[in-house]
Amino acid sequence: MHVLLAIGTRPEAIKVAPLYHALRSDPFFSVTTCITSQHRELLQQMLAFFDVRPDVDLQVMQPRQTLADLTCNVLRGADQLLAQTRPDLVIVQGDTTTAFTVGLAAMYQRIKVAHVEAGLRSFDLQQPFPEEANRRLVDVFSDYLFAPTSGAADNLRKEGYRKESIFVTGNTGIDALLMATEIVRSQGHPLPVNLPAGAKLALLTAHRRESFGEGLLRICQAVLKLLDRHPNLHILYPVHPNPNVQDVVQKQLSAHPRVYLCAPLEYPGFVGALAAADLILTDSGGVQEEAPALGKRVLVLRETTERPEGIEAGVAELVGTNVELIVDRATALLQGSEASGPVLSPYGDGLASSRIVEVLDRTTVLRRSA
Ligand code: UD1
Ligand code: UDP
Repeated sequence: MHVLLAIGTRPEAIKVAPLYHALRSDPFFSVTTCITSQHRELLQQMLAFFDVRPDVDLQVMQPRQTLADLTCNVLRGADQLLAQTRPDLVIVQGDTTTAFTVGLAAMYQRIKVAHVEAGLRSFDLQQPFPEEANRRLVDVFSDYLFAPTSGAADNLRKEGYRKESIFVTGNTGIDALLMATEIVRSQGHPLPVNLPAGAKLALLTAHRRESFGEGLLRICQAVLKLLDRHPNLHILYPVHPNPNVQDVVQKQLSAHPRVYLCAPLEYPGFVGALAAADLILTDSGGVQEEAPALGKRVLVLRETTERPEGIEAGVAELVGTNVELIVDRATALLQGSEASGPVLSPYGDGLASSRIVEVLDRTTVLRRSA
C-alpha cells in the first residue's frame, strides 16, 4: 500500500512522527513523506528530533501570508505531487491549513484520505479559527476517521458519519510524548532558565489567531499582575515566530526581570519544561493533551475547547483571556489551595500509531479478499 503522509506545522510533525516510524517498519507499506513547509524553523526543529526524513518539500511558507494564499499554494503543490505519485492513501493530521488542503487535493483526485485526530469539535467556527472549520471539512472527505477519544467518535456518529469508518485510537501525540519523556529521563534536559532557590516556574504558550490583538494584550497584563502578586514566580514563555505574536509579547513582557522570553524550544526541552513547571498556561491544543499525561493541571487561555475530556476530568480549566480569572485561578493552583486528586490522562496510552497501522493493514486485507 503506497501511503502519502502530509506534514505542515510543528504539531503535525510531532503527532505524525510516531506514525511515520510505525508505517515504515511495516513492509506492507511504502511511504512518501511530504512536508508543505507551512512552517519552516518550527517544523525543521521537530523533524530533526524525531528523525523524520521528508521525500518532498512543497516550500510554501511566506512571511505574513494570508490563509487564502497559503491554501492556494498548498493545493497547487499537492495537486501536482498527487498526480505524479498516485498514492493509495493520503494521511493528514489535525486541523491545519496543510491538513485541510492536502486532503482536499486528494479528494479531487479520488484518492482515499485518512484523518488522524478526527472528530474534535469546539462547536464554534470562530474558536479556534480557522481550525474548527478545517477539521470539520477534512472529516467530510475522509475514508478513515481516526478519533483520539470516544467523545470525538461520538461527535462523528452524531454528525452521521458511517460507523465502519470511525476508529478510536488514542492520540498519536501521546505516543510522541512518551518517546520524548524517555529521552528526557535518560539524557536530562536542563531548563533554559536558571531559577533561584525557592522559585516557582510558570510555563506559558499563546499563539492563536483569535487572540491576536486584545486577547494577547490581556494575557500579557494577567502575566504582569500574577508576577506582582507572587514575588517568587518566574515565567518561561517560548514565543511563536508569528510577527502578530512576537510584536505584542516582546513589547509587553521583555523588560520584566522574572519573565524569560525565548525562541520555541525543541521538543524534549519543552517536555522537560512542562514536567518542571508549577503552573501551565496555554492556548495550545497539544499542550492541553500533554500536561495531564505528565500529571499536570493546565489553565487554558481560550473561551472554548475541542478537548473537553481534560475539563471533565478536572485537570484542565478554561480561563479565556480574562485578566482577573487568569490571575485568580493561577493563584489558586500556585498556592495549592485546590482539592488535589490524581491527574488523569484522557487522551491516549502511547499505542495510537500501532492501532492506526493495524486498522490500515486489516481493512486493506479484508477489501482485497472480498
Ligand atoms: C498554524 C496552525 C495552527 C497551529 C499552529 C501551530 C493553521 C491555520 N493554523 O498556525 O492550528 O496551532 O500552526 O504552531 O494551519 N512563522 C515563521 N516560522 C515558522 C512558522 C511560522 O516565521 O516556522 C510565521 C510566518 O510569518 C507565518 C506565521 O508565523 O506566516 C503564521 O504561520 P501559520 O502557519 O499561517 O499559522 P500559525 O499561527 O503558525
Ligand atoms: N512545543 C514545543 N516547543 C515549544 C512550544 C510547543 O515543542 O516551544 C510543542 C508542544 O509540546 C506540543 C506542540 O508543540 O506538542 C504544540 O504546538 P502548537 O501549540 O504550536 O500547536 P497546537 O497544538 O495548538 O496546534
